[in-house]
Amino acid sequence: MSSSSPSPRRVAIVGATGAVGREMVDVLHRRSFPVAELGLFASERSAGRTVETPFGEKTLVAFDVEKVKGYDIVLLAVSGDFAKQHAPALASAGALVIDNSSAFRYDDNVPLIVPEINASALGDAKLVANPNCTTAIAVVALGPLHKAFGLKRVIVSTYQATSGAGAEGMAELEEQTRNQLEGKPVTNSVFRHPIPFNLIPQIDAFQDNGYTKEEMKVTWETRKILGIPDLALSCTAVRIPTYRAHSEAITIETLSPVSPQAARAVLSDAPGVKLTDDPANGVYPMPLNATGQFDVEVGRIRTNLVFGDHGLDIFVCGDQLLKGAALNAVQIAELSL
Ligand SMILES: NC(=O)c1ccc[n+]([C@@H]2O[C@H](COP(=O)([O-])OP(=O)(O)OC[C@H]3O[C@@H](n4cnc5c(N)ncnc54)[C@H](OP(=O)(O)O)[C@@H]3O)[C@@H](O)[C@H]2O)c1
Repeated sequence: MSSSSPSPRRVAIVGATGAVGREMVDVLHRRSFPVAELGLFASERSAGRTVETPFGEKTLVAFDVEKVKGYDIVLLAVSGDFAKQHAPALASAGALVIDNSSAFRYDDNVPLIVPEINASALGDAKLVANPNCTTAIAVVALGPLHKAFGLKRVIVSTYQATSGAGAEGMAELEEQTRNQLEGKPVTNSVFRHPIPFNLIPQIDAFQDNGYTKEEMKVTWETRKILGIPDLALSCTAVRIPTYRAHSEAITIETLSPVSPQAARAVLSDAPGVKLTDDPANGVYPMPLNATGQFDVEVGRIRTNLVFGDHGLDIFVCGDQLLKGAALNAVQIAELSL
């Protein structure tokens, strides 16, 4: 962002009623983004409904590509198919389009950006991909550790909140937990199995190699964002019965020797990281604390017993609706001011 006041921009949020879209409205306000006009778009189902926002009362408009074309910045929070159909036309019309789906993340011509790590990848792109939520949270910590010690191999185990599956995922957790406690039948439609008092080691579809698509996204996207095309990274992604904020246990093997003290020094200066590492006093990253925060909490920093002085274990926790989606998208928009 330049030091002189940037000119206000016309901003459209498409998918404004969803888990991510609603957060985008708040994040624009919390970061004092210079908004000249805010357009909120969703499906026909929501059209005409009014919503209170920090920018005043707004009427939801049914998405129509022609109605969105005049905006300077378009934040897309719908599906991959929707993005494939509409994002190129909106970008060609001159808007900066920031897409939250996976539609363009693996396209070599589309930058995949976490501003703390690879802001320069923006260039003069008009279409930008926002990473998968788990990846965005992980790389905020992995990026500075890679710069300082070099990443050789990474193993990630995730504990992902129900809102990662959208507003309906949170609603299913709430309703089915109530049903379970009241002795009523517990059914599931968003998740493959009941989520209350359970955890599900499947997020997205299984691939031929036995990993899920969510797990492979973490591998593919971390490589692209960190610029390490051959990084060995294995992920196991698990859905757990929390509302929001994803947690991740991350083990790294480094190229240069690393110690917990040296890692703490690096992470305490890293943008977007909140060092949360005082285990003796019960201070470590947790979803309840990370919820609503912009920073990613990093703690439980210790030498990994397998990799010794070239290994580190960390636990990270970040609000995936913020750093994993809405905040990261707005930060990308800020790069263009
Ligand atoms: N949830 C997360 O943690 C997370 C994190 C990173 C990325 N993402 C990605 O962000 C995107 C949105 O996810 P979400 O979790 O916010 O989903 P969601 O809660 O299910 O919301 C979906 C939004 O899309 C709108 N929509 C659906 N069909 C539409 C259409 N034909 N035209 C215009 N709007 C339409 C919905 O509007 P109506 O209410 O009118 O149906 C709603 O606003 C997805 O690509 C997702 O993979 C999600």
